Amino acid sequence: MSFGIPFAPSEASSAAASVDTLFYTLLAFTTALGAFLTLLVVGYAVKYRAGSGADRTGERGRSLPLEIGWTLASLIIAFAIFGWGATLFMRRDHPPADALQIAGLGKQWMWEFRHPGGQREIDELHVPVGKPVVVSLASQDVIHSFFVPAFRVKQDAVPGRTTHVWFTATEPGHYHLFCAEYCGTQHSEMGGWVDALPPEQYAAWLSDQGEGETLAATGEKLFRALGCSGCHGNSSKVRAPPLENVYGRPVALANDATVIADERYLRDSILQPKKEVAAGYEPVMPSFDGLVDEAELQMLLAYLKSLSPQGSTNSESIR
Ligand code: CUA
Repeated sequence: MSFGIPFAPSEASSAAASVDTLFYTLLAFTTALGAFLTLLVVGYAVKYRAGSGADRTGERGRSLPLEIGWTLASLIIAFAIFGWGATLFMRRDHPPADALQIAGLGKQWMWEFRHPGGQREIDELHVPVGKPVVVSLASQDVIHSFFVPAFRVKQDAVPGRTTHVWFTATEPGHYHLFCAEYCGTQHSEMGGWVDALPPEQYAAWLSDQGEGETLAATGEKLFRALGCSGCHGNSSKVRAPPLENVYGRPVALANDATVIADERYLRDSILQPKKEVAAGYEPVMPSFDGLVDEAELQMLLAYLKSLSPQGSTNSESIR
């Protein structure tokens, strides 16, 4: 609930109301506590000011039940608030499996987005209302932060790793998108708009962008151009792990550990292939660090994900 606060941004995502309820509850609670303590301090300062005729003969005893009482009460309240916040955080961190996947790239000083169909936009993001959207974020240079106040979501885009943010827009509209991490001279100009459209208008917008190559198809071309298919292809002489149905599933490693093949794993396997070698394979893959940029990595990841239609996005978001 927005509680009628006039200067608060509109609540335009499925998470907004619950975030606001937590925020305003915390605000009310800390305000009440602060006011109560201030009253006590001021009240006693006035009552026992120098020269006042207040009675100072009172007992200076301790009350064990009182001390245990307020300690326990504070503990319970603190844990309740923690539990409440943690629940929202966990929800925020686990996109639904059917979410629309958009690749977002932060760079000095713009946001670049790629839709699954290959449609590309700068400083503007069109999304359908009522459908979960997960934006996987990467940065080409420094830390940026994807911030849409009306959706109550903010997530850093960190160089060297993939992060995620997801939301379901609930109201059609034109919402501010900001970069919320100081990233250089034009940081304040880095941002734009999120356009939440009714599904049919979103579909119309997508087709207006013209028929292009899907992100996964561009990734597949790159996969061949970089020579990945030479080893990972079915007919290859070099024995490299097949990549079909890998994404979202557990992978046994040579060091007996098991990892979930999420975006983090795929990304690291391209850039630091010796780090987590799949069990039963030789660590012969060269690193592609410096050979592919962040945008190309996102295309490769889109291609690898497309090889695993059943792949779950639920497992990828534990960072
Ligand atoms: Cu990008 Cu601030």
